[in-house]
Amino acid sequence: MPKLKGCPCTDYKANKDASGNCSLNRGPDGYAIQCVGDWALQKHDILRRYIEATSGPRAKYRPPVGRGGAAFIDMFAGPGMSCIRDTGEIIDGSPLIALCHTRAPFTSLVFCDLNADNISALESRTSAANDRVSIVHGDCNQCVGDILDLVPEYGLNVALIDPFGPSVLHGNTLRSLGEVKRMDFIIHFPTNGLKRYFGKRGFGQTIDNLVGNTDWRSEIRHARDVPKLIKYLRRNLVSIGYDKEQVRSLPIKNSRNRALYHLMFATKHDLGNKIWGSIARIGPGGQRELDL
Ligand SMILES: C[S@@+](CC[C@H](N)C(=O)[O-])C[C@H]1O[C@@H](n2cnc3c(N)ncnc32)[C@H](O)[C@@H]1O
Repeated sequence: MPKLKGCPCTDYKANKDASGNCSLNRGPDGYAIQCVGDWALQKHDILRRYIEATSGPRAKYRPPVGRGGAAFIDMFAGPGMSCIRDTGEIIDGSPLIALCHTRAPFTSLVFCDLNADNISALESRTSAANDRVSIVHGDCNQCVGDILDLVPEYGLNVALIDPFGPSVLHGNTLRSLGEVKRMDFIIHFPTNGLKRYFGKRGFGQTIDNLVGNTDWRSEIRHARDVPKLIKYLRRNLVSIGYDKEQVRSLPIKNSRNRALYHLMFATKHDLGNKIWGSIARIGPGGQRELDL
């Protein structure tokens, strides 16, 4: 993998803009890059495993076998390329990971981002495949109707929900996407970010918006209770037709074995357990690190 000169910088927090992009460096192609921790590698590894694990079912929805199609929807797409802040390594972002998959390629890919610089980067980085790619510039919560117009109604689809923080992730947006007959979800649940945000102004409303009700308020009384919110988000997904057994979460840990965030997976597909089994990591004790 190429490395970026000047990385790591002396103060990556000061040198990141509001959308998480490096404000000092551009990618090798001159377009924006995100500045990320090495935990992004784990997220991308799991995304790749999910895409591989679902190749078989997806192939049945692709012509000439099937006509339904298969869409990858990246609601918080980023610029398509990132730099690992401690090493300067340049890596593909989620849009390029999905686009470059070859075993059973997605028939359409929809990338949404709020940031104009990221939109230019995505347009350039995906231009070779623009017959399959649609790029939506705006707040995905507002644009969800336009995004749904680009999703094959009878396809086998997946939406990646990967915001930096919880306040931009709205339960109603998940509900709208989840109304599509076959829509899997991969959701970045910002466990640590929420712990830091706990008790601050706007926290309660953010969680109400996310889980769709106020029931959580009697149980989540301390920052350490935050992981229990996953249960409430799961209930929200179950209420729109996802089977409780097919909504799973996987803690993504740092080198000190502390959970930084969770990835949640939801499917209506009966192969869910097989898929989860192949994406869950094997822990040091040989156990699968997949929570319920
Ligand atoms: C964590 S990054 C995405 C990383 C990307 N999924 C990857 O793995 O390469 C989050 C992105 O969400 C974008 N964003 C923030 N709020 C948004 C919103 N309301 N709608 C759409 N995009 C948004 C930011 O500009 C940023 O690029």
